[in-house]
Amino acid sequence: MKAREEKIVMLTAYDAWMARILAASGAADMLLVGDSLGMVELGYDTTIPVTMNDVARHTQAVRAGAPKALIVSDMPFLSHRIGPATTMRNAGRLMRKGATAVKLEGGISIAGSVERIVTAGIPVMGHLGLQPQSVHAIGGYRRQFLRPEEQRQLKQDASALENAGAFAIVLECVPDELAQEVTAALRIPVIGIGSGPYCDGQVLVTHDLLGLSGAQTPPFARQYAQLGDAIQAAVGSFARDVRSGAFPQARTRPTVNA
Ligand code: KIV
Repeated sequence: MKAREEKIVMLTAYDAWMARILAASGAADMLLVGDSLGMVELGYDTTIPVTMNDVARHTQAVRAGAPKALIVSDMPFLSHRIGPATTMRNAGRLMRKGATAVKLEGGISIAGSVERIVTAGIPVMGHLGLQPQSVHAIGGYRRQFLRPEEQRQLKQDASALENAGAFAIVLECVPDELAQEVTAALRIPVIGIGSGPYCDGQVLVTHDLLGLSGAQTPPFARQYAQLGDAIQAAVGSFARDVRSGAFPQARTRPTVNA
């Protein structure tokens, strides 16, 4: 698709019902079981508490809802940092639950892990730019990559991941021009989020574009529906009908033939 200059669409899914709807829509080229599930589904402040059990369970659910989809599953905090054997076991576990590929946050420092996982036959997507699993190390969700040395490092990280065999890279919250340079420099697709229009594709947290994230909606997300409001209106109507006696309606008693 990169060679044909066709934009790639990736959307998050965490459960079977959403995966079913996204698969039926045909809108997404890939589904991402992101560790954002910690914030979106489990109510955490960061992705750090998300465990292998969490991602494995949600991967299984998404696979059940979208049997034919290309599913990328996040390797959560520290799951690929403890040692090669643990990394491989964890990547393998997500594949057995239904992932088609795994996604790892990190650059040059994880290139060795990426190479080992790819060599074992597991496709790997990289994740550069803002790396939410390192939120405390970088001092919060702040704008980065404005300084030339940060930009140089990012480009080196991107090349290292490509050379290690990653099939694509997510690039989160970097300046548009930097994203454009990285996209042009790599042979593999760059999927942007909050990184401007010049990437090979875009990923969004599905809840953000559907208007389900309320005050947590990031500024770069465009809302295509207001499902949070629609849900509130629907459950309000149900409650009113129950309280007024309008629901349920009495059923006519079946007649018994003598
Ligand atoms: O976890 C996630 O949803 C992600 C996207 C923001 C790219 O990594």
